[in-house]
Formats: sequence, C-alpha cells, structure tokens
Amino acid sequence: MQVHNTSSTDAAETSRLELAGIGVRFGGIVALDDVCLRVPPGSVVGIMGPNGAGKTTLFNVICGFIRPGSGSMSFDGEPFAPVPHRLAARGVARTLQGLGLFNGLTALENVTAGASGRHRAPFAAGLLGLPPAARSNRQAVADAAALLDEFGIGSYAHALPSALPYPVAKKVALARALISDPTLMLLDEPAGGLDQADIDDLRELIGALPRRAGGTVSVMLVEHNVDLIMSVCDHIVVLDFGRVISQGSPDEIKADPVVAQAYLGDREAS
Ligand SMILES: Nc1ncnc2c1ncn2[C@@H]1O[C@H](COP(=O)(O)OP(=O)(O)O)[C@@H](O)[C@H]1O
Ligand SMILES: [Mg+2]
Repeated sequence: MQVHNTSSTDAAETSRLELAGIGVRFGGIVALDDVCLRVPPGSVVGIMGPNGAGKTTLFNVICGFIRPGSGSMSFDGEPFAPVPHRLAARGVARTLQGLGLFNGLTALENVTAGASGRHRAPFAAGLLGLPPAARSNRQAVADAAALLDEFGIGSYAHALPSALPYPVAKKVALARALISDPTLMLLDEPAGGLDQADIDDLRELIGALPRRAGGTVSVMLVEHNVDLIMSVCDHIVVLDFGRVISQGSPDEIKADPVVAQAYLGDREAS
C-alpha cells in the first residue's frame, strides 16, 4: 500500500480533525482551556500529560459526551458537533481505557457488534441478490473474522472474554473499533496492563493503522507509556492543567524543558 508523502502540502491539507479554542469547566475546575490542535489524515497524534491534565475530557469532547463551553471543532473540513451514537457512522471509533468487551459474547461476536454502527449503501447487497440486512450481517462476520486473523488471534474467535489472555482481549477491543472502518481512531491508554513484549506488538499494530484505507486513517493516542508514544507518534500534544503546554515532533517534546518540568512536578520548587 502506498503512503504518500505530504510534507510539502501539510499546511494546506484539510485536517481530519481540528479543535480551536476548546474550553471545558466542571464547576470551578478548568478541565480544558483554549485547546487548539489538528490531526492530519494518515497521522498518529499523541496526547500526553500528567494525571488530571484533561486527556480523557478531551476524548469525551471529541466523542460528544461532553459539550465544550467554548471553541469549535471541524472534521474533514466540516463543522463537527459530535453525537455519541452517530460517531461510527461519522467515521470515529474509540477504544476505552480497560477493555469494555461484552462478557456474554465471543471474541468474534464482540468484533461483529462493532459493525452495527456503520451505514453502508445497500448497493453490494443488491448485486448479490441478498436482503441488505442479511448481506451486511454476513459481511460483518466475515470482516470480523478477517480482522482477528490479521491480528493473529483467529484461534480465539469462539472464546468468551473471560477466557482470553489480557493482550488478546486488548486486540479484540481494537478490532471491534476498527471494524466500523473509522477514519479517526481514539485509543485511550491501549498499553495499560501489557508487558514489554505485548507493547512492542501493539507498537507495530498502531504504527500500521494509518496505512489502512489508502493511508488516510488518523489515530489519536492517549498513553502514559512514554516510550510507546515517542516511538509511534508523528506529532505529540502535551496538556497540563487543561492547557496545551507544548506540541511538536517526538524529538521536540523530548527536548522541551517545560514538558519535563510538568512531569517532574517540581513547579513549586523551581
Ligand atoms: N465529570 C467530572 N466532574 C468534575 N470534574 C471532572 C470531571 N471529569 C474530569 N474532571 C476534572 O477535570 C480535570 C481533568 O480530568 P481528566 O480529563 O480525567 O484528566 P486526565 O485524563 O488527563 O487524567 C481533573 O481535574 C478532573 O478531576
Ligand atoms: Mg484519563
């Protein structure tokens, strides 16, 4: 699959997602303050920041669970006012912190369930002479099985979540998000609870996400594992107390003393 180099046209390119001046307050707490960022198509953007910095709130705003008090968003150049139950149809998928799998469904059924939100034209069904619902359900099961195979966990297709090793369950959760063919994926601490070998596996998997669908899939990644975020992201945004305190390439973030200071928590001492 070809990944086109957009370095010369980046500035003019339409953003997958753009946030301008986003502000969220919870009573007296400012959870997000004038947050501006852009996520280009086919890129991995990392969101870092100490606990309480506003990372989860940011994802909740993008998913429509929290309506910001100020600011605006656009998606593929159009004004974006997200509604949670219409996100999949809009091309946005999210994995939750932890797993969020349905305990009563097998791995395959969990992934298939992720397809329910996507709305496909019934064109292919018509060609095959099938009623649209039957066609789309059969297609969803086939797509789910293909994703499990792609992730190397096809042998777990008929296992319940309680029987899955944790790293396998994490991949099932990722497959469930991917099956709706999102163009923007939000991953909330995907490395949580994984050991180093599984994190290396995850790094490859996340690094390959943007190359799907012709290289236009964008990923936003909230992650505490600094090695993972530094190695997989094209661009990193650092939040502290709800404000963007730094953003840039992984190397720029590593070299920024403001970031180190936020993480060391020595602001009073300095
Ligand atoms: N529903 C809520 N009600 C009140 N305060 C909240 C709520 N959600 C988050 N906060 C506060 O907003 C700030 C940002 O929280 P959060 O987005 O969860 O941070 P992070 O994910 O970076 O750890 C914190 O001070 C947190 O206590
Ligand atoms: Mg959080």
